[in-house]
Amino acid sequence: MNKARDELFRSPGHGAREFDFGAETARVFDDMLERSVPFYAELQDMIARLAGDFATPGSRAYDLGCSTGNGMLTMARYLPETVTLVGVDASSPMLDQARAKLEKQSMPCPWRLIQADLNQGLALENPSVVVMTLTLQFIRPLYRERLVRGIAESLPKGGCFILVEKVLGQDSLINRLFVKHYYDFKRRQGYDDNEIMRKREALENILIPYHQKENEALLLDNGFGSCDCFFRWYNFCGMLAIKY
Ligand SMILES: C[S@@+](CC[C@H](N)C(=O)[O-])C[C@H]1O[C@@H](n2cnc3c(N)ncnc32)[C@H](O)[C@@H]1O
Repeated sequence: MNKARDELFRSPGHGAREFDFGAETARVFDDMLERSVPFYAELQDMIARLAGDFATPGSRAYDLGCSTGNGMLTMARYLPETVTLVGVDASSPMLDQARAKLEKQSMPCPWRLIQADLNQGLALENPSVVVMTLTLQFIRPLYRERLVRGIAESLPKGGCFILVEKVLGQDSLINRLFVKHYYDFKRRQGYDDNEIMRKREALENILIPYHQKENEALLLDNGFGSCDCFFRWYNFCGMLAIKY
């Protein structure tokens, strides 16, 4: 993993502008993920094992919002060798990082990277598995339903969609507690209060989380027959949805 230290929000200037996924962020993103996403490595492993349960020989497994390729690298361990891994992201600096990492590994299955804006929807070819880890929250709410419906329509019966999101607590007290414990986690990972506050401000209006129940409804109302939560840590939630 590229371990350049994430100090993006150390200096006061950074809080003043919106968060983006450009070159500066991509350079430190692996460190940011590891120190900002609780149980990040375990989560990737759980996603990859579930992907392995559903991937069918000769099909494609998509990682939408693949960033620097960690999900693809982990999934490759559990997929049949005939499955093609496809990573999609809007950010070319993220895709450059992903390409460098994937080329360095001897990947057991074919793979490719596609640059695309998921706000526009995406035509998926022959998918059996679609993964979206901490990315739907960055898609404009107006387009989320269309994207999820498109994913469900592209999957065959028995295909799966693995969705991990930051979520809101059910009421304001619960939400406050979840956020408090999340910020405590970030302090334990070495972020100071100013960095935490500046990043929160930079993400406002960029990362728009739903409640877990809203995400469930989004899945069940748009083509998935069943869904369940496989991971929950305060305001982080992983859901497995199956097309019937
Ligand atoms: C939090 S990161 C995802 C982390 C990654 N899935 C992982 O498991 O390590 C969100 C990613 O979504 C991408 N993204 C944000 N908005 C997007 C859009 N509209 N279309 C495509 N990708 C987008 C960003 O460039 C970024 O790489």
